[in-house]
Amino acid sequence: MAASGTALGIFITFEGGEGGGKSRQSRILTRHLRRRGIPVLLTHEPGGEPLAARLRRLLKGNSALTPEAELLLFAASRAQLTSRVIRPALAGGRVVVCDRYADSTLAYQGYGRGVDREAIRAANRVAMSGLTPDITVLLDVPEEVGLARKHTDDDRFIREPLPFHQRVRQGYLELSRLEPQRWLVVDALLPEKEVARAVWERVAPLLPRGDRP
Ligand code: TYD
Repeated sequence: MAASGTALGIFITFEGGEGGGKSRQSRILTRHLRRRGIPVLLTHEPGGEPLAARLRRLLKGNSALTPEAELLLFAASRAQLTSRVIRPALAGGRVVVCDRYADSTLAYQGYGRGVDREAIRAANRVAMSGLTPDITVLLDVPEEVGLARKHTDDDRFIREPLPFHQRVRQGYLELSRLEPQRWLVVDALLPEKEVARAVWERVAPLLPRGDRP
């Protein structure tokens, strides 16, 4: 885990099903931190690093992948991003905000596709090499609402049938119950500003006193 209790090396991830506003909320949090002069790196999964970006194209477009191959490619992408981007940024004292991380694989490949969750945890351990997010924000949204917010279906995950998305959502909720100290669950149906405020209230106590609101 990154060093909690100081502004340096805090690792924050955003998770959730489709259309919960993760990318938007990651950007809002990053902006709030930057405004306070806190060095922050915003990244995302899959991607965020040259080789991981190539894996992203493969993962998003290729429906011939088996669930197991999919799991291992997400893990490979994560290994690249973790060691080439996230760890150096944390070591350099930055706050890292990541739009999706290891819990996405448990939710999508585990609960969604039915791949053995212990195998996924093992793959994640290799990819994360001992790193754990300090805070994980779950933007929880009913799947029909989330999917309706998506204006594109050029992603084979979005095209999965509704029960897949229901399993993903229930999976995330179960994961959040298993580690309540790490997760912040926010109702993503709330107005954007209220979601952002809930996130900020959870993040602010980790910042040094001068940087708190
Ligand atoms: P992306 O365009 O980043 O979507 P989103 O805006 O929802 O984050 O596409 C990533 C897709 O990959 C998304 O549908 C979730 C899926 N995914 C997995 O299935 N497993 C994973 O480990 C990760 C990181 C993403």
